[in-house]
Amino acid sequence: MADIEKTFIMIKPDAVRDRKTGLIIDRIERCGLTIEKMEKCELDEDLVKVHYAHLADKPFFGDIVDFMTSGPVVKMVVSGLSAVSKMRTLMGATNPLDAAPGTIRGDFANDVNANIIHGSDSLENAAIEIERFFG
Ligand code: PPS
Repeated sequence: MADIEKTFIMIKPDAVRDRKTGLIIDRIERCGLTIEKMEKCELDEDLVKVHYAHLADKPFFGDIVDFMTSGPVVKMVVSGLSAVSKMRTLMGATNPLDAAPGTIRGDFANDVNANIIHGSDSLENAAIEIERFFG
């Protein structure tokens, strides 16, 4: 029996800029998931560096920081049965070139950095990320 979970989701600056927020929320709700909290905000550099600290040694780390601070994001807490894995399936692969048609990244993204949406990759990280972004 699946559990009700909470996960952290963030619509990235490219999607907010391109007015894709409503389309993405529609897909999330059509899956039977619930938006518990939602806020449009700008991220400061320090918070982005903490959030992506596991990638600090990657050559593209600076690009992530530049991109994620390039404009507003929409951060959310999403809940529902198996919300963590359901959102990961709905989002599609991190690299949009590998993301299946019908997924959010497969349909809307074409760049591994500007890839439209972030979602927690485990229940443990979801709790950490919800605390990090909503306190
Ligand atoms: S995943 O899918 O989150 O488990 O993968 P992970 O490796 O942890 O996340 C990679 C995040 O870094 C962003 N990013 C890139 N990844 C790979 N290659 C390049 N060049 C790159 N540039 C940026 C990628 O969008 C992932 O962001 P999030 O927000 O975690 O999806």
